[in-house]
Amino acid sequence: MASYSELANRPVLTQPVYEAGRPIEVVAREFGLDPASVIKLASNENPLGPSPLGLAAARKALENLHLYPDGGCTFLREKLAAKWSLRPSNFVIGNGSNEVMILLAQAFLRPGDEVVFGSQAFIVYKLATLLFGATPVEVPMPGFRHDLAAMRAAVTPRTRIVFLASPNNPTGGTDSPEEIVALARSLPEDVIFCLDEAYAEYLDRTADLRPLMAEGRKLVVTRTFSKAYGLAGLRVGYLVGSEEVCGLINRVRQPFNVNLPALAGAEAALDDAEFLSRSRRANAEGVAQLSDGLRRLGFEFIPGHANFLAAKIPNAEEAFTTLQKAGVIVRPLKGYGMGGWLRLTVGTPAQNERLLSELSKFR
Ligand SMILES: Cc1ncc(COP(=O)(O)O)c(C=O)c1O
Repeated sequence: MASYSELANRPVLTQPVYEAGRPIEVVAREFGLDPASVIKLASNENPLGPSPLGLAAARKALENLHLYPDGGCTFLREKLAAKWSLRPSNFVIGNGSNEVMILLAQAFLRPGDEVVFGSQAFIVYKLATLLFGATPVEVPMPGFRHDLAAMRAAVTPRTRIVFLASPNNPTGGTDSPEEIVALARSLPEDVIFCLDEAYAEYLDRTADLRPLMAEGRKLVVTRTFSKAYGLAGLRVGYLVGSEEVCGLINRVRQPFNVNLPALAGAEAALDDAEFLSRSRRANAEGVAQLSDGLRRLGFEFIPGHANFLAAKIPNAEEAFTTLQKAGVIVRPLKGYGMGGWLRLTVGTPAQNERLLSELSKFR
């Protein structure tokens, strides 16, 4: 009799497992702490909480939990279309932007294809590539910055997708809109460029790829409600692309992949301009507070514009555990080939102060 492993699809056997930020309750139980005293600065969540408009709408939607959600995500796509000056058919809604990236990979990747991304790029690009038997081509990032010329040079006739996040996670660095547009324009016409803009709302300027899209270039943009809108727990993200690419990706999407409160929450959050600007302001102040503190403590860190900073901390792996004992959860970056580095999410001013005070013990 064959084992399950012998029966499994080949890529599944070697598929790496995504290591998420450790949940508050789990850390509290492990170290005998009161969950209320534990702070999680490990998953780039919004320290201000959820968008109030999003929260109210999601709460209201709970009354209709006996109904399936709108599988077509009609109203959210209409709202996004108005925001982006595109058509509803230019959007695919996912259970987080993570899902739309997997759907993109599912629709387009097969064994033999190559996928190009940076060596310290968001790990999901690699997971999506491997899951469908394609080959990751990881381009070195000198100084932890994307080398866009090297990425372009890594493209071969086998390349199917190029992924780029700006800002990138876990390094936090950005590429200028001009550089991004130039890269998109330089790619061969059968390569799909996926620009991941999970943290776009924190930037003053983002690349506008719509003109290139209108020219018929193969490119998609992904966004999420998990960060600046504060709705990570609802899991909503989306992909922007041509009607044709969205139509194809929609064929592999589950009919009800985005749940009822999630759709309602995301729709309402889009109108929450007040919360969005408060998030942006608080984040800029938090980045400055953490940067100043890290500088004062003499720790090397990568300047960043998203809602986190990567910092080099002596004995980082040990520090990760010691910090948890003190009720502070951060993210070790060893899995990204950045042993010795920790990723620190921007918290409230008090949380940032507590983090810096705990970090001062590792000098
Ligand atoms: C660069 C980047 N892209 C995408 C995501 C996925 O976010 P979500 O699936 O919550 O939309 C994350 C999450 O941390 C991220 O850092």
